[in-house]
Amino acid sequence: EYSSDPKAFEEYKPLISSLPRRKGWVLNQFYHYQGFWHNLFYLEGLLSAQEHFKPQPNDIFLSSVPKSGTTWLKALSFAIMTRSSFDASTNPLLTTTPHECVHSLEGDLAHNLFHRNLDTPLIGTHVPYTSLPKPVLDYGCKIIYICREPKDSFVSLWHFCCKASPKGVELSAREDLDFEEAFKLFCEGISVFGPYWDHVLGYWRASLEFPERILFLKYENLKKEPVFYVKEMAKFMGYPFSLEEETKGMIENIVDLCSFENLSKLEVNKSGWLHGRPYLVEKNAFFRKSKIGDWKNYLKPMMVARLDEITEHKFRSSGLTF
Ligand code: A3P
Repeated sequence: EYSSDPKAFEEYKPLISSLPRRKGWVLNQFYHYQGFWHNLFYLEGLLSAQEHFKPQPNDIFLSSVPKSGTTWLKALSFAIMTRSSFDASTNPLLTTTPHECVHSLEGDLAHNLFHRNLDTPLIGTHVPYTSLPKPVLDYGCKIIYICREPKDSFVSLWHFCCKASPKGVELSAREDLDFEEAFKLFCEGISVFGPYWDHVLGYWRASLEFPERILFLKYENLKKEPVFYVKEMAKFMGYPFSLEEETKGMIENIVDLCSFENLSKLEVNKSGWLHGRPYLVEKNAFFRKSKIGDWKNYLKPMMVARLDEITEHKFRSSGLTF
């Protein structure tokens, strides 16, 4: 199983080997830690972050369960924050993937500390709310969470996992990821950073308790009213748009720059491999269809009923709906 630096994480071995395990979707194993399922690489990163990571008070965390719009959220936040340093032709998003513009806590930063970019205090994470390093909460760092309707999240996750393979294994040589099997596991909560519902609920409840610190977004809303939500995001981040910027169409420019249509056709996002991951995946795997309701093309009626029932049961009395 892939681990970036066996020595650096040696001290976590006894703990990790004591954790419950299940077969993973792409990598060999999922490990159950603090109520959630993790791949080894991200678990080592999380343990290291929990022990060592010190945020700056002005850090803004961009959080999500995988396949909920992380790439989009990173692009939008980065464009909002850097808008006065670049224009439409010089923005780094044109030549660098959103995942390389905004690094991840348990992936990039925990494994390569030199990745920290203090000029742009944005950090991506899939870590569940209750597992975030304590200083992130103690310092009152702001968090933007994005979630996505569970059926679309599952379908997106399955497609992504089919395009990823463990390091050293050709995609064509890896075992196929069976759709029905993946569905069963997802429903049981066994998916990367899952259970999906617990991840969402953790941030949802925290956002109700600390609305000034946690902005809770839904992928579907962002898709329907991007201008409104980008304005909300900028205000929340402490980078509000001035009247002059609004009049000049700055919000629309950011929405267009970060749109699926624009980002997915850029050479930098179209070809090549994304580095720094425990698995091999091409950059274009992060851009598939970006459609609301694509689950209709994949889920059988029985599956729809099952997922809807779990969602209804889990989110009942939380006030969260899709
Ligand atoms: P689909 O598989 O449904 O197309 P994540 O970024 O969390 O990995 O989520 C990936 C999903 O977000 C994919 O969904 C992908 O196509 C979509 N996506 C990526 N970039 C986007 C963008 N700029 N705008 C809207 N959706 C985007």
